Amino acid sequence: MDDFQYRDGVLHGESLDLREVANRFDTPLYVYSTKTLLDHYDRCAAAFAELNAVICFSVKSCHNLTILRLLRERGSAFDVVSGGELQRVLEVGAGPSSIVFAGVGKTDAEIEQALRAGIGWFNVESEAELENLARLADGLGTTARAALRVNPDVDPHTHVYTTTGKRETKFGVDLERARRVFREFRGRRGLDLSGIHLHLGSPVNRIEAYVESIEKALKLIDGLRGDGFAVAAINIGGGFGAHYQGGEAPPAAAYAEHIVPLLRGRHLGVLLEPGRSIAANAGVLLTRVLYTKASGDRQFVIVDAAMTELIRPALYGAYHFAWPVAPKDGVVPPSRAADLRMPGAVLVDIVGPVCESGDFLAKDRWLPPVSRGDLLCIFTAGAYGSVMGSRYNSRPLAAEVLIAGRQARLIRRRETFDDLVRTEREAIDP
Ligand code: LLP
Repeated sequence: MDDFQYRDGVLHGESLDLREVANRFDTPLYVYSTKTLLDHYDRCAAAFAELNAVICFSVKSCHNLTILRLLRERGSAFDVVSGGELQRVLEVGAGPSSIVFAGVGKTDAEIEQALRAGIGWFNVESEAELENLARLADGLGTTARAALRVNPDVDPHTHVYTTTGKRETKFGVDLERARRVFREFRGRRGLDLSGIHLHLGSPVNRIEAYVESIEKALKLIDGLRGDGFAVAAINIGGGFGAHYQGGEAPPAAAYAEHIVPLLRGRHLGVLLEPGRSIAANAGVLLTRVLYTKASGDRQFVIVDAAMTELIRPALYGAYHFAWPVAPKDGVVPPSRAADLRMPGAVLVDIVGPVCESGDFLAKDRWLPPVSRGDLLCIFTAGAYGSVMGSRYNSRPLAAEVLIAGRQARLIRRRETFDDLVRTEREAIDP
């Protein structure tokens, strides 16, 4: 599952005692494991190797430059969703043709930036966007290769905010319309519309949802080919699950077992956009207990991380396993299950310092007794953790550290007050 494991009663990241890492870099602190990250990438690549699939790591899930560079060196391509993400991957040396650009609202400036860079694919979400893309590409004297994002109307059974493949969401165009769109844009200058893109939502532990939507897309592709269109590629998006409790996410090989046979021999290039399944278990958030208190009938553990470091619990009611890094009496958790209740455990809410009731990292959890100064680990935080961080309450963005074996190094320094106010000071004191 990952390389954050208890050894002699203390949580280690690969070979390092995480107490030492926290002492050295302070908290709140994101810590990533090189080994977990690359293992998960490798497993995905191996599972889809038969199709020669291009694995486009979804940058939105974890955008640290050092992590992107590691993945690039491992052979990863990239899925970006803004001009900023595009710049990040170019900065780490990604080959432009290995970049796919998604998103319902690309601006002209972003499209031109991507055209100038010569990216591999635009994943396009509407006729209006295709129109604009063709105009901008033609204006630059180039041709944009595009995949039309179709909305297969398949329920991935995940949180409503991260469901994208249902008809009522803003994403893609419906299947009936897709064929008309191809006809409308046939031979359009500046445009090579030759792919189909899907993305159902995230996380999607239900493999049948992929099967159902890919079957629908293949039917569309057959129809399009029958109409004389050269459809060269299918991008099946991201959404593979991660282990928040452990055991709930099918491995990449299980997704592949069902998906590969559908695409075998179809003469289609295959692209994937996994983010969470590669990064989530590769990162944890370390936080220190500031205070404990009882109020009403509840026990609160107040820590130095907050919704500003990890917003998923507040935003989606997401579950992240939390446990002391060095539990008293060595009470090491046998699993990361939600209903874990060990002898001596206390029912607590783990909350942050931010002035909102929604500011919690975990609710109603049985935790071994903790006191001021103890370190807690919030697991499975490597995807949609740090990247969704904010500076609310003038809290500087947390530091990030990468572990490789016995080495830990800073890959993002903690922000300072000067960082926080730099762009405002320019206005006061130009
Ligand atoms: N491709 C597209 C077009 C996407 O919109 C996404 C995620 C991905 C790929 C990557 O999905 P993944 O493999 O990481 O599941 N903030 C939410 C997740 C939002 C996902 C947005 N799109 C969370 O914390 O759960």
